[in-house]
Amino acid sequence: MSESTPNPGPSKESAKPKESKSKAAEGSSDKASTGFETMLGKLVVDQGLITDEELQQCNTELLATRSEGEAGSLEDVLVKHQFATQRQLDRLRKEFDAAKSQSKIPGYKIIKKLGAGAMATVILAQQKSLDRLVAIKILPSRFSEDQNYVERFYKEGRAAAKLNHPNIVHAYEVGQAGDNHYFVMEYVEGNTVYDRIVEEKRLGEDEAIDIMLQSALALQHAHDCGFVHRDIKPKNLMLTTNGVVKVADLGLARHADDTDLAKAEAGRAYGTPFYISPEQIRGAINITGQADLYGLGATCYHMVTGRVPFTGKTPSEVMKGHLRKPLTLPDEFNTSLSAGFCRVIEKMLEKDCPDRYQCAADLVEDLRLVQQGEQPHFAKDDLDLSSLAVRIDTPEADIPQANNPPRRDSDSLMSNSMFVPMIISIVINVILLIVLVALNA
Ligand SMILES: Nc1ncnc2c1ncn2[C@@H]1O[C@H](COP(=O)(O)OP(=O)(O)OP(=O)(O)O)[C@@H](O)[C@H]1O
Ligand SMILES: [Mg+2]
Repeated sequence: MSESTPNPGPSKESAKPKESKSKAAEGSSDKASTGFETMLGKLVVDQGLITDEELQQCNTELLATRSEGEAGSLEDVLVKHQFATQRQLDRLRKEFDAAKSQSKIPGYKIIKKLGAGAMATVILAQQKSLDRLVAIKILPSRFSEDQNYVERFYKEGRAAAKLNHPNIVHAYEVGQAGDNHYFVMEYVEGNTVYDRIVEEKRLGEDEAIDIMLQSALALQHAHDCGFVHRDIKPKNLMLTTNGVVKVADLGLARHADDTDLAKAEAGRAYGTPFYISPEQIRGAINITGQADLYGLGATCYHMVTGRVPFTGKTPSEVMKGHLRKPLTLPDEFNTSLSAGFCRVIEKMLEKDCPDRYQCAADLVEDLRLVQQGEQPHFAKDDLDLSSLAVRIDTPEADIPQANNPPRRDSDSLMSNSMFVPMIISIVINVILLIVLVALNA
């Protein structure tokens, strides 16, 4: 079922449309602590997910359920009859929470909604004291329940406000409005790398190197200041109308651990599992800046090939690809890429940290070289050596047949080539011996 397609509702037999709307609204107001449940009927009608009449039918059914002493909510009925998916209702709740808290952020005048991600809603506002535009990320109220998270949110937010780099979205303030925590940041007028990929399908090498270089400089600064982003992806690389890259969400504490975050994106076309590093998937305790270089590599791969490095039907399958599958080289999908740039992308996407770029500064150096048409220093063309090493180290059973002639053939070849000279040498030695014996006699 498509998320935007309303589906057939309760069957005519089970629904009794003659119930009045106000009575139906009563039925949905039990859990009205947040106000969302009270407003849900109006919201789904306003969104075009359901007609007035269908809403009445749902509320009638809900009343009938409750009169039989069973618990139930309008949300349950809407999902049961496929008028809305749980994901749509969660999003409505998030937007409702955000709209509610908008009027409550002191010092800011809300202008409009800029967008919404998996975790939060972002709005454009005017900071009255400084008369400047800012973007405010409003987290859902459920985040407030986790005290550990709230502490990290403030600690990391305050620390991030000290970062100062032209390629990093500046963090201004963290605070609380009602039940919601919020993060005030620099407003970036423009779009994201994700939008560019959607527009162009894939970007040319010059544009990609420019975006990479600016992003790598931002990461170099962040890493030097002790920050690891952990969620580098096309949607977190913003582009101003003048082509300046701004890395977003630096210093925004993550609510879940990395794999949970990745799984939460299940089913989304471009989600975190596509850019997450192998060490984050493994749940490594000490995640370093190299994880960001992997995320940047995956983002770059997507930019220049129009595909993510590893795909799969489920987030777990995608993550298995990051852990185990060999990478299809980017120039197989985009033959116009230079060999040097390809090697840089491959090095960013090395599965093991010792093989990957050790730090953002090394990546910056290589990108500058490639930009000038020179060969990268760190991403060396050591393909032949490494393949040789693999052949020596890999157990026979793992060596693909094509690269590994059958052992018996090669053995017989070896024995044939050694056998003949050996026989000749024995015959010569015997003749010499006979001659020597004859001479002595
Ligand atoms: N500082 C900003 N200035 C302007 N627009 C912004 C800013 N930060 C975010 N946005 C807009 O808000 C949208 C939502 O951002 P958010 O960080 O919540 O989610 P995301 O990064 O797109 O995805 P996810 O939740 O999966 O991380 C972005 O896609 C972007 O369009
Ligand atoms: Mg973001």
